[in-house]
Amino acid sequence: MPVNPYAFHIKTFGCQMNAHDSDWLCRSLENRGFFQAPFAEAGLYIINTCSVRDKPEQKVYSELGRIARHAKVNRREGVSVAVGGCVAQQVGPGLVGRFPQVRLIFGTDGIARAPEALSRLAEEPRLRLSLLEFTEGYEEREAPARTGRAPAAAFVNIMQGCDNFCTYCIVPYVRGRQKSRDPEEILAECRALLENGCREITLLGQNVNSYGQDTHGRGVGFAELLGRILALPELLRLRFVTPHPKDIDPRVIAAFGTYEALAPRLHLPLQSGSDRILKKMGRRYDTARYMDIVRDLRAARSDITLTTDIIVGFPGETEEDFAATMRLMDEVGFVHSFSFVYSDRPMAKAGMLPDKVDRIVALERLSRLQNAQNMVSDQVLAQQVGRVETILVESAGKRPVVLPDSVEKIAEAVAEPEVEYVQGRTPHGYIVNVALPVPAGAGSGFWAGKAVPVLIRAAGKHSLVGTQAGEPCWISQS
Ligand code: 5AD
Ligand code: SF4
Repeated sequence: MPVNPYAFHIKTFGCQMNAHDSDWLCRSLENRGFFQAPFAEAGLYIINTCSVRDKPEQKVYSELGRIARHAKVNRREGVSVAVGGCVAQQVGPGLVGRFPQVRLIFGTDGIARAPEALSRLAEEPRLRLSLLEFTEGYEEREAPARTGRAPAAAFVNIMQGCDNFCTYCIVPYVRGRQKSRDPEEILAECRALLENGCREITLLGQNVNSYGQDTHGRGVGFAELLGRILALPELLRLRFVTPHPKDIDPRVIAAFGTYEALAPRLHLPLQSGSDRILKKMGRRYDTARYMDIVRDLRAARSDITLTTDIIVGFPGETEEDFAATMRLMDEVGFVHSFSFVYSDRPMAKAGMLPDKVDRIVALERLSRLQNAQNMVSDQVLAQQVGRVETILVESAGKRPVVLPDSVEKIAEAVAEPEVEYVQGRTPHGYIVNVALPVPAGAGSGFWAGKAVPVLIRAAGKHSLVGTQAGEPCWISQS
Protein backbone atom coordinates (compact mmCIF):
# COMPACT_ATOMS: atom_id res chain seq x y z
CA MET A 1 0.00 0.00 0.00
CA PRO A 2 1.42 3.45 -0.84
CA VAL A 3 2.27 5.46 2.25
CA ASN A 4 1.38 9.07 3.03
CA PRO A 5 4.61 11.01 2.38
CA TYR A 6 3.49 13.75 4.80
CA ALA A 7 3.13 11.44 7.83
CA PHE A 8 6.47 11.64 9.62
CA HIS A 9 8.08 9.94 12.56
CA ILE A 10 11.21 11.39 14.13
CA LYS A 11 13.84 9.71 16.28
CA THR A 12 16.42 11.84 18.07
CA PHE A 13 19.72 10.84 19.63
CA GLY A 14 21.87 13.04 21.83
CA CYS A 15 21.90 16.21 23.81
CA GLN A 16 19.66 19.21 24.41
CA MET A 17 20.93 20.87 21.26
CA ASN A 18 19.86 17.98 19.12
CA ALA A 19 16.52 17.72 20.89
CA HIS A 20 16.03 21.44 20.24
CA ASP A 21 16.91 20.98 16.55
CA SER A 22 14.40 18.14 16.26
CA ASP A 23 11.74 20.18 17.98
CA TRP A 24 12.24 23.03 15.52
CA LEU A 25 12.23 20.61 12.58
CA CYS A 26 8.90 19.10 13.71
CA ARG A 27 7.22 22.49 14.04
CA SER A 28 8.59 23.62 10.73
CA LEU A 29 7.35 20.48 8.97
CA GLU A 30 3.92 20.80 10.61
CA ASN A 31 3.74 24.32 9.21
CA ARG A 32 4.32 22.85 5.77
CA GLY A 33 1.45 20.38 5.99
CA PHE A 34 3.32 17.39 7.41
CA PHE A 35 2.01 15.69 10.55
CA GLN A 36 3.53 13.41 13.17
CA ALA A 37 2.57 9.75 13.04
CA PRO A 38 3.35 6.62 15.06
CA PHE A 39 6.23 4.48 13.81
CA ALA A 40 3.93 1.92 12.16
CA GLU A 41 2.01 4.50 10.14
CA ALA A 42 4.72 6.91 8.95
CA GLY A 43 5.67 7.49 5.33
CA LEU A 44 8.73 9.56 6.23
CA TYR A 45 11.23 8.65 8.96
CA ILE A 46 13.70 11.22 10.25
CA ILE A 47 16.69 10.13 12.30
CA ASN A 48 18.52 13.03 13.92
CA THR A 49 21.86 11.84 15.26
CA CYS A 50 24.55 13.07 17.62
CA SER A 51 27.96 11.48 18.14
CA VAL A 52 29.46 13.76 20.76
CA ARG A 53 29.08 11.39 23.67
CA ASP A 54 27.76 8.29 22.07
CA LYS A 55 28.79 6.06 19.24
CA PRO A 56 25.45 6.21 17.54
CA GLU A 57 26.44 4.79 14.17
CA GLN A 58 25.32 1.28 15.11
CA LYS A 59 22.07 2.62 16.51
CA VAL A 60 21.39 4.41 13.24
CA TYR A 61 22.04 1.25 11.25
CA SER A 62 19.74 -0.78 13.45
CA GLU A 63 17.03 1.90 13.18
CA LEU A 64 17.39 1.88 9.38
CA GLY A 65 17.15 -1.91 9.40
CA ARG A 66 14.00 -1.75 11.52
CA ILE A 67 12.38 0.72 9.12
CA ALA A 68 13.31 -1.40 6.07
CA ARG A 69 11.89 -4.57 7.70
CA HIS A 70 8.68 -2.82 8.72
CA ALA A 71 8.21 -1.47 5.18
CA LYS A 72 8.84 -4.89 3.64
CA VAL A 73 6.72 -6.98 5.98
CA ASN A 74 3.77 -4.58 5.81
CA ARG A 75 4.21 -3.81 2.12
CA ARG A 76 4.49 -0.11 2.73
CA GLU A 77 5.48 1.32 -0.63
CA GLY A 78 7.38 4.57 -0.98
CA VAL A 79 8.74 4.87 2.57
CA SER A 80 11.44 7.55 2.76
CA VAL A 81 14.13 8.17 5.33
CA ALA A 82 16.09 11.32 6.17
CA VAL A 83 19.22 11.03 8.29
CA GLY A 84 20.57 14.20 9.90
CA GLY A 85 23.18 15.40 12.38
CA CYS A 86 26.67 14.16 13.21
CA VAL A 87 26.41 10.65 11.76
CA ALA A 88 25.03 11.99 8.50
CA GLN A 89 27.96 14.41 8.37
CA GLN A 90 30.43 11.57 8.91
CA VAL A 91 29.10 8.70 6.86
CA GLY A 92 26.23 10.28 4.91
CA PRO A 93 26.93 9.25 1.30
CA GLY A 94 27.68 5.68 2.43
CA LEU A 95 24.21 5.43 3.95
CA VAL A 96 22.47 6.12 0.65
CA GLY A 97 24.22 3.19 -1.03
CA ARG A 98 23.41 0.76 1.74
CA PHE A 99 19.83 1.80 2.42
CA PRO A 100 17.87 2.72 -0.72
CA GLN A 101 15.10 4.28 1.37
CA VAL A 102 17.44 7.06 2.51
CA ARG A 103 16.52 10.03 0.34
CA LEU A 104 17.88 12.95 2.33
CA ILE A 105 21.05 13.32 4.35
CA PHE A 106 21.59 16.60 6.15
CA GLY A 107 24.54 17.69 8.26
CA THR A 108 24.39 19.98 11.25
CA ASP A 109 24.43 23.10 9.07
CA GLY A 110 22.08 21.54 6.52
CA ILE A 111 19.20 21.33 8.99
CA ALA A 112 18.13 24.92 8.22
CA ARG A 113 17.22 23.82 4.70
CA ALA A 114 15.88 20.36 5.63
CA PRO A 115 12.16 21.35 5.79
CA GLU A 116 12.28 22.75 2.27
CA ALA A 117 14.16 19.67 1.04
CA LEU A 118 11.64 17.33 2.69
CA SER A 119 8.76 19.19 1.03
CA ARG A 120 10.41 18.66 -2.35
CA LEU A 121 10.94 14.96 -1.65
CA ALA A 122 7.26 14.53 -0.78
CA GLU A 123 6.32 15.96 -4.17
CA GLU A 124 9.01 14.33 -6.29
CA PRO A 125 9.21 10.64 -5.36
CA ARG A 126 12.36 9.93 -7.38
CA LEU A 127 14.43 12.75 -5.95
CA ARG A 128 17.33 12.32 -3.51
CA LEU A 129 19.04 15.23 -1.80
CA SER A 130 22.12 15.83 0.26
CA LEU A 131 22.76 18.84 2.52
CA LEU A 132 26.21 18.15 3.87
CA GLU A 133 28.01 21.38 3.10
CA PHE A 134 29.16 23.53 5.99
CA THR A 135 27.72 27.00 5.52
CA GLU A 136 29.78 30.19 5.60
CA GLY A 137 27.89 31.88 8.44
CA TYR A 138 25.14 30.95 10.90
CA GLU A 139 22.24 29.91 8.72
CA GLU A 140 19.02 31.51 9.99
CA ARG A 141 16.15 29.08 10.22
CA GLU A 142 12.59 29.88 9.30
CA ALA A 143 10.41 30.68 12.31
CA PRO A 144 7.34 28.44 12.08
CA ALA A 145 4.13 30.06 13.25
CA ARG A 146 3.06 28.76 16.65
CA THR A 147 -0.23 27.15 17.33
CA GLY A 148 -0.89 28.01 20.96
CA ARG A 149 1.47 29.27 23.61
CA ALA A 150 5.24 28.93 23.65
CA PRO A 151 6.62 26.50 26.23
CA ALA A 152 7.22 28.03 29.68
CA ALA A 153 10.93 27.20 29.31
CA ALA A 154 12.47 27.33 25.85
CA PHE A 155 15.86 27.00 24.15
CA VAL A 156 17.43 29.54 21.81
CA ASN A 157 20.50 28.83 19.64
CA ILE A 158 23.12 31.53 19.71
CA MET A 159 25.86 29.86 17.70
CA GLN A 160 26.85 26.76 15.82
CA GLY A 161 30.06 24.73 15.78
CA CYS A 162 33.25 25.07 17.78
CA ASP A 163 36.87 26.18 17.24
CA ASN A 164 38.47 24.60 20.29
CA PHE A 165 39.54 21.17 19.09
CA CYS A 166 39.78 19.59 22.54
CA THR A 167 41.72 16.47 21.63
CA TYR A 168 38.96 13.99 22.55
CA CYS A 169 36.14 15.81 20.80
CA ILE A 170 34.44 15.26 17.46
CA VAL A 171 32.36 18.46 17.49
CA PRO A 172 34.62 20.77 15.45
CA TYR A 173 34.73 18.11 12.71
CA VAL A 174 31.05 17.26 12.51
CA ARG A 175 29.56 20.59 13.51
CA GLY A 176 32.12 22.78 11.80
CA ARG A 177 33.84 26.00 12.82
CA GLN A 178 32.23 28.42 15.23
CA LYS A 179 29.59 30.66 13.69
CA SER A 180 27.87 33.23 15.87
CA ARG A 181 24.28 34.07 15.20
CA ASP A 182 23.30 37.69 14.62
CA PRO A 183 22.44 39.22 18.03
CA GLU A 184 19.37 40.96 16.58
CA GLU A 185 18.00 37.60 15.42
CA ILE A 186 18.62 36.10 18.85
CA LEU A 187 16.85 39.01 20.55
CA ALA A 188 13.94 38.81 18.11
CA GLU A 189 13.48 35.10 18.84
CA CYS A 190 13.66 35.72 22.60
CA ARG A 191 11.11 38.55 22.36
CA ALA A 192 8.73 36.42 20.30
CA LEU A 193 8.96 33.58 22.83
CA LEU A 194 8.34 35.91 25.77
CA GLU A 195 5.39 37.54 24.03
CA ASN A 196 3.92 34.06 23.61
CA GLY A 197 4.06 33.08 27.27
CA CYS A 198 7.60 31.73 27.61
CA ARG A 199 9.25 32.76 30.93
CA GLU A 200 12.59 31.01 30.96
CA ILE A 201 15.17 30.93 28.19
CA THR A 202 18.23 28.71 27.91
CA LEU A 203 20.82 29.94 25.42
CA LEU A 204 22.54 27.13 23.53
CA GLY A 205 25.99 26.93 21.99
CA GLN A 206 29.05 24.67 22.10
CA ASN A 207 31.09 27.39 23.75
CA VAL A 208 28.86 30.33 24.58
CA ASN A 209 31.70 32.26 26.20
CA SER A 210 33.34 32.81 22.84
CA TYR A 211 30.11 34.04 21.27
CA GLY A 212 30.87 36.89 18.86
CA GLN A 213 34.57 36.08 18.65
CA ASP A 214 34.56 34.60 15.18
CA THR A 215 34.47 36.11 11.74
CA HIS A 216 30.67 36.15 11.89
CA GLY A 217 30.49 38.13 15.14
CA ARG A 218 28.86 41.57 14.99
CA GLY A 219 30.90 43.27 17.69
CA VAL A 220 28.65 41.96 20.46
CA GLY A 221 30.28 39.55 22.91
CA PHE A 222 28.57 37.11 25.26
CA ALA A 223 28.53 39.51 28.21
CA GLU A 224 26.76 42.20 26.13
CA LEU A 225 24.36 39.64 24.69
CA LEU A 226 23.44 38.46 28.19
CA GLY A 227 22.88 42.07 29.31
CA ARG A 228 20.57 42.75 26.38
CA ILE A 229 18.53 39.59 26.88
CA LEU A 230 18.28 40.16 30.63
CA ALA A 231 16.76 43.56 29.92
CA LEU A 232 13.80 42.03 28.10
CA PRO A 233 10.49 42.46 29.90
CA GLU A 234 8.62 39.29 30.98
CA LEU A 235 11.82 37.25 31.33
CA LEU A 236 11.80 35.45 34.64
CA ARG A 237 14.92 33.33 34.24
CA LEU A 238 17.87 33.00 31.93
CA ARG A 239 20.26 30.05 31.72
CA PHE A 240 22.98 29.13 29.25
CA VAL A 241 24.99 26.08 28.16
CA THR A 242 27.86 25.45 27.63
CA PRO A 243 30.54 27.86 28.82
CA HIS A 244 34.18 26.85 28.37
CA PRO A 245 36.17 27.84 31.48
CA LYS A 246 39.07 29.24 29.46
CA ASP A 247 36.91 31.97 27.90
CA ILE A 248 34.73 33.07 30.77
CA ASP A 249 34.47 36.86 30.88
CA PRO A 250 34.67 38.51 34.34
CA ARG A 251 31.56 40.48 33.35
CA VAL A 252 29.65 37.23 32.90
CA ILE A 253 30.75 36.13 36.37
CA ALA A 254 29.71 39.52 37.80
CA ALA A 255 26.32 39.25 36.07
CA PHE A 256 25.36 36.42 38.44
CA GLY A 257 25.54 38.94 41.27
CA THR A 258 23.76 41.73 39.40
CA TYR A 259 20.79 40.12 37.73
CA GLU A 260 18.20 38.26 39.74
CA ALA A 261 16.94 36.69 36.51
CA LEU A 262 20.26 35.02 35.75
CA ALA A 263 19.58 31.64 37.34
CA PRO A 264 22.12 30.76 40.04
CA ARG A 265 23.16 27.44 38.51
CA LEU A 266 26.01 27.00 36.07
CA HIS A 267 27.24 24.02 34.09
CA LEU A 268 31.02 24.44 33.90
CA PRO A 269 32.76 21.44 32.32
CA LEU A 270 35.90 20.48 34.22
CA GLN A 271 36.71 17.21 32.32
CA SER A 272 39.62 16.33 34.61
CA GLY A 273 41.11 17.46 37.92
CA SER A 274 44.66 16.68 36.80
CA ASP A 275 46.70 19.44 35.14
CA ARG A 276 48.70 16.86 33.21
CA ILE A 277 45.53 15.40 31.68
CA LEU A 278 43.92 18.80 31.06
CA LYS A 279 46.99 19.68 29.04
CA LYS A 280 46.72 16.50 26.97
CA MET A 281 43.06 17.23 26.45
CA GLY A 282 43.97 20.63 25.02
CA ARG A 283 41.62 22.40 27.41
CA ARG A 284 43.85 25.45 27.89
CA TYR A 285 43.12 26.00 31.60
CA ASP A 286 44.57 24.37 34.66
CA THR A 287 42.93 23.44 37.93
CA ALA A 288 44.15 26.63 39.65
CA ARG A 289 42.40 28.74 37.01
CA TYR A 290 39.25 26.62 37.30
CA MET A 291 39.19 27.08 41.08
CA ASP A 292 39.70 30.84 40.67
CA ILE A 293 36.58 30.93 38.50
CA VAL A 294 34.64 28.94 41.10
CA ARG A 295 35.78 31.33 43.82
CA ASP A 296 34.82 34.40 41.76
CA LEU A 297 31.42 32.93 40.90
CA ARG A 298 30.72 32.29 44.57
CA ALA A 299 31.90 35.76 45.47
CA ALA A 300 29.43 37.17 42.95
CA ARG A 301 26.55 34.92 43.99
CA SER A 302 27.19 32.92 47.15
CA ASP A 303 24.39 30.40 46.57
CA ILE A 304 25.33 29.53 42.98
CA THR A 305 25.27 25.78 42.31
CA LEU A 306 27.66 24.17 39.89
CA THR A 307 27.41 21.13 37.66
CA THR A 308 30.06 19.65 35.42
CA ASP A 309 31.22 17.11 32.83
CA ILE A 310 34.03 14.66 33.59
CA ILE A 311 35.85 12.21 31.35
CA VAL A 312 37.57 9.30 33.09
CA GLY A 313 40.15 7.01 31.55
CA PHE A 314 41.60 9.58 29.14
CA PRO A 315 44.79 8.13 27.56
CA GLY A 316 47.61 8.20 30.11
CA GLU A 317 45.32 8.83 33.12
CA THR A 318 46.96 7.28 36.16
CA GLU A 319 45.39 6.45 39.49
CA GLU A 320 46.97 9.66 40.80
CA ASP A 321 45.40 11.76 38.05
CA PHE A 322 42.06 10.21 38.84
CA ALA A 323 42.53 10.83 42.56
CA ALA A 324 43.18 14.51 41.71
CA THR A 325 39.83 14.61 39.86
CA MET A 326 38.05 13.09 42.86
CA ARG A 327 39.69 15.62 45.19
CA LEU A 328 38.73 18.56 43.04
CA MET A 329 35.16 17.35 42.75
CA ASP A 330 35.01 17.07 46.50
CA GLU A 331 36.42 20.57 46.88
CA VAL A 332 33.93 22.16 44.49
CA GLY A 333 30.91 20.11 45.59
CA PHE A 334 29.15 19.89 42.23
CA VAL A 335 25.46 19.30 42.76
CA HIS A 336 25.37 17.11 39.69
CA SER A 337 27.81 15.81 37.12
CA PHE A 338 27.73 13.99 33.81
CA SER A 339 30.59 11.55 33.62
CA PHE A 340 31.82 9.41 30.78
CA VAL A 341 34.47 6.86 30.05
CA TYR A 342 36.79 8.21 27.40
CA SER A 343 36.37 6.66 23.99
CA ASP A 344 38.09 7.39 20.68
CA ARG A 345 36.15 9.49 18.22
CA PRO A 346 36.81 9.53 14.49
CA MET A 347 39.17 12.39 13.59
CA ALA A 348 39.74 13.51 17.20
CA LYS A 349 43.48 13.64 17.97
CA ALA A 350 43.41 11.79 21.31
CA GLY A 351 42.75 8.63 19.33
CA MET A 352 46.44 8.62 18.46
CA LEU A 353 47.70 9.06 22.03
CA PRO A 354 49.53 6.14 23.65
CA ASP A 355 48.76 4.57 27.04
CA LYS A 356 45.11 3.82 26.55
CA VAL A 357 43.49 3.03 29.89
CA ASP A 358 42.13 -0.47 30.25
CA ARG A 359 38.35 -0.36 29.95
CA ILE A 360 37.74 -2.32 33.13
CA VAL A 361 39.95 0.11 35.05
CA ALA A 362 38.16 3.08 33.49
CA LEU A 363 34.73 1.65 34.29
CA GLU A 364 35.76 1.03 37.86
CA ARG A 365 36.92 4.66 38.16
CA LEU A 366 33.67 5.84 36.65
CA SER A 367 31.68 3.91 39.17
CA ARG A 368 33.72 5.28 42.10
CA LEU A 369 33.22 8.80 40.78
CA GLN A 370 29.50 8.32 40.25
CA ASN A 371 29.02 6.82 43.70
CA ALA A 372 30.71 9.81 45.28
CA GLN A 373 28.65 12.18 43.14
CA ASN A 374 25.40 10.41 44.00
CA MET A 375 26.08 10.84 47.68
CA VAL A 376 26.62 14.58 47.26
CA SER A 377 23.61 14.95 44.94
CA ASP A 378 21.35 13.07 47.38
CA GLN A 379 22.57 15.21 50.24
CA VAL A 380 21.99 18.42 48.32
CA LEU A 381 18.43 17.39 47.45
CA ALA A 382 17.75 16.42 51.08
CA GLN A 383 18.95 19.87 52.17
CA GLN A 384 16.20 21.50 50.12
CA VAL A 385 13.48 20.02 52.34
CA GLY A 386 11.84 22.70 54.45
CA ARG A 387 12.74 25.55 52.11
CA VAL A 388 10.25 27.72 50.28
CA GLU A 389 11.30 28.11 46.66
CA THR A 390 9.66 29.67 43.63
CA ILE A 391 9.17 27.20 40.85
CA LEU A 392 8.37 28.03 37.26
CA VAL A 393 5.71 25.55 36.22
CA GLU A 394 6.77 23.85 33.00
CA SER A 395 4.70 20.78 32.35
CA ALA A 396 2.46 18.08 33.62
CA GLY A 397 4.26 16.39 36.48
CA LYS A 398 4.29 13.11 38.28
CA ARG A 399 1.77 12.33 40.97
CA PRO A 400 3.87 13.00 44.06
CA VAL A 401 5.09 10.12 46.13
CA VAL A 402 3.06 10.17 49.35
CA LEU A 403 5.12 11.42 52.22
CA PRO A 404 4.58 10.34 55.78
CA ASP A 405 4.07 13.88 57.03
CA SER A 406 1.81 14.96 54.22
CA VAL A 407 -0.39 11.95 53.76
CA GLU A 408 -3.46 13.95 54.60
CA LYS A 409 -2.66 16.82 52.32
CA ILE A 410 -1.89 14.58 49.37
CA ALA A 411 -4.91 12.39 50.11
CA GLU A 412 -7.07 15.51 50.03
CA ALA A 413 -5.48 16.54 46.77
CA VAL A 414 -6.06 13.15 45.21
CA ALA A 415 -9.72 13.20 46.26
CA GLU A 416 -10.07 16.68 44.82
CA PRO A 417 -10.74 16.44 41.06
CA GLU A 418 -9.75 20.03 40.31
CA VAL A 419 -6.09 19.41 40.93
CA GLU A 420 -3.30 19.38 38.40
CA TYR A 421 0.01 17.59 38.97
CA VAL A 422 2.70 19.80 37.60
CA GLN A 423 6.46 19.94 37.43
CA GLY A 424 8.67 22.98 37.65
CA ARG A 425 12.18 24.04 38.51
CA THR A 426 13.56 26.14 41.32
CA PRO A 427 16.01 28.92 40.38
CA HIS A 428 18.79 26.47 41.27
CA GLY A 429 17.42 24.02 38.74
CA TYR A 430 15.96 21.36 41.05
CA ILE A 431 12.86 19.67 39.68
CA VAL A 432 9.81 19.87 41.94
CA ASN A 433 6.56 17.93 41.56
CA VAL A 434 3.55 19.57 43.08
CA ALA A 435 -0.24 19.26 43.05
CA LEU A 436 -1.94 22.62 42.41
CA PRO A 437 -5.63 23.49 42.50
CA VAL A 438 -7.21 24.37 39.18
CA PRO A 439 -9.97 27.00 39.26
CA ALA A 440 -13.31 25.77 37.97
CA GLY A 441 -13.44 25.85 34.18
CA ALA A 442 -9.74 26.68 33.77
CA GLY A 443 -8.79 23.30 32.32
CA SER A 444 -5.40 21.62 32.27
CA GLY A 445 -2.36 23.70 31.45
CA PHE A 446 -3.63 26.53 33.67
CA TRP A 447 -0.40 26.63 35.66
CA ALA A 448 2.11 26.43 32.80
CA GLY A 449 4.32 29.51 32.77
CA LYS A 450 3.37 30.66 36.27
CA ALA A 451 5.79 31.13 39.11
CA VAL A 452 4.56 29.57 42.32
CA PRO A 453 6.10 29.51 45.79
CA VAL A 454 6.27 25.96 47.09
CA LEU A 455 7.33 24.44 50.35
CA ILE A 456 9.72 21.57 49.64
CA ARG A 457 8.44 18.63 51.65
CA ALA A 458 10.53 15.68 50.50
CA ALA A 459 13.42 14.65 48.32
CA GLY A 460 13.27 11.74 45.89
CA LYS A 461 16.11 10.26 43.86
CA HIS A 462 16.26 13.00 41.22
CA SER A 463 13.52 15.41 42.14
CA LEU A 464 11.64 17.05 44.98
CA VAL A 465 8.05 17.07 46.12
CA GLY A 466 6.41 20.25 47.31
CA THR A 467 3.12 21.83 48.29
CA GLN A 468 1.94 25.29 47.35
CA ALA A 469 3.14 27.90 49.82
CA GLY A 470 1.55 31.06 48.51
CA GLU A 471 -0.16 32.75 45.62
CA PRO A 472 1.54 32.73 42.22
CA CYS A 473 3.96 35.58 42.52
CA TRP A 474 4.32 36.33 38.87
CA ILE A 475 1.43 35.73 36.56
CA SER A 476 1.80 36.03 32.83
CA GLN A 477 0.04 38.96 31.20
CA SER A 478 -1.14 37.08 28.16
N1 5AD B 1 34.84 10.36 25.19
C1 5AD B 1 34.13 10.52 26.33
N2 5AD B 1 33.42 11.63 26.62
C2 5AD B 1 33.42 12.62 25.72
N3 5AD B 1 32.82 13.83 25.72
C3 5AD B 1 33.11 14.45 24.56
N4 5AD B 1 33.90 13.67 23.80
C4 5AD B 1 34.12 12.52 24.50
C5 5AD B 1 34.87 11.34 24.26
N5 5AD B 1 35.57 11.19 23.15
C6 5AD B 1 32.03 14.37 26.84
C7 5AD B 1 32.71 15.60 27.45
C8 5AD B 1 31.85 16.73 26.97
C9 5AD B 1 30.50 16.07 26.89
C10 5AD B 1 29.51 16.77 26.03
O1 5AD B 1 30.77 14.79 26.36
O2 5AD B 1 32.67 15.51 28.86
O3 5AD B 1 31.85 17.85 27.84
FE1 SF4 C 1 34.25 19.76 22.00
FE2 SF4 C 1 36.03 21.23 23.36
FE3 SF4 C 1 34.42 22.39 21.52
FE4 SF4 C 1 33.37 21.51 23.84
S1 SF4 C 1 34.89 23.17 23.61
S2 SF4 C 1 32.55 21.20 21.78
S3 SF4 C 1 34.61 19.69 24.25
S4 SF4 C 1 36.03 20.87 21.13
